[in-house]
Amino acid sequence: MSFAGRDIITTEDLTKEEILHILDVSARMEEIVTKEKISNLLADKMVAIIFLESSTRTMLSFVSAANRLSAKVISVAGAKSSSAAKGESLSDTARTVEGYVDCIVIRQPQIGGAKIVADAVDVPVINAGDGSSQHPTQALLDMYTIQKELGMLEGLTIAMVGDLKFGRTVHSLSYALSHFNPTYLYCSPKELSMPEKIVSDMEDRGIDFQISNNMEDALQADIIYMTRIQRERFEDPAEYEKLKGSYVLTKDLLKKAKKEILILHPLPRVDEIAPEVDELPNAAYFRQAHNGVYLRMALLALVLDRA
Ligand code: CP
Repeated sequence: MSFAGRDIITTEDLTKEEILHILDVSARMEEIVTKEKISNLLADKMVAIIFLESSTRTMLSFVSAANRLSAKVISVAGAKSSSAAKGESLSDTARTVEGYVDCIVIRQPQIGGAKIVADAVDVPVINAGDGSSQHPTQALLDMYTIQKELGMLEGLTIAMVGDLKFGRTVHSLSYALSHFNPTYLYCSPKELSMPEKIVSDMEDRGIDFQISNNMEDALQADIIYMTRIQRERFEDPAEYEKLKGSYVLTKDLLKKAKKEILILHPLPRVDEIAPEVDELPNAAYFRQAHNGVYLRMALLALVLDRA
């Protein structure tokens, strides 16, 4: 199986074997970090890390991943500091940057924008989030975390709670985990329900799922995957004010949950998980964020043909 030169734009087109291979390589990358800290695997490579939307985890874990593999990094942090602010198109930016690097990692707000970048260049492109559409590297690190925490991926019930409409992480996770015989509990306010296309694709893939707006239904899952109601996705601030705080996971609520329910969140959180939950051994969201480095090391090594 080769990922050399391949773009990672969506989880829709990844096979089960490809996902398992990425997770295997991620485990090898974790060993490298544990034993050697730094490897020379990508010492002759240069990576552009372009973030035209805000980020802490995805951007810094990509920079960390590249540095752990000794790749050189050039970066843009924030739309205002690139010529996107002067009206340059995504494809012109991409065609320019292609001449500087061996791989492009990009986050930007336009749905389908990462594909536009990938179509414009010959170097591999990794989608670090395209608006409210997809966040494939997050879904893969979520799966790496589930495998590490629970020792398995098959046959799990996972509740996805919060903003399922604009939540790119739950879109990507729905597709990626669909190869592993899951049951999904989609729990959201009706205004923020999972897009029709994804629901219909899950039906076509034969996935068992339930739709609810009651968080207590979600507590019966093996995994509860909380998400933030995203202020930045609302055109009408009043609509955000109405929906924010719809679901808050507390220790009290968790008394009704399945024992040892795994608690995940792509982060950042605002108020949807009470800080008191952080001390529980099954609150895995900061470990989840740390796993992003191994997963992103794996993807860089794979697309640059060094895995
Ligand atoms: N999970 C995630 O994408 O976080 P950032 O927005 O901080 O990158």
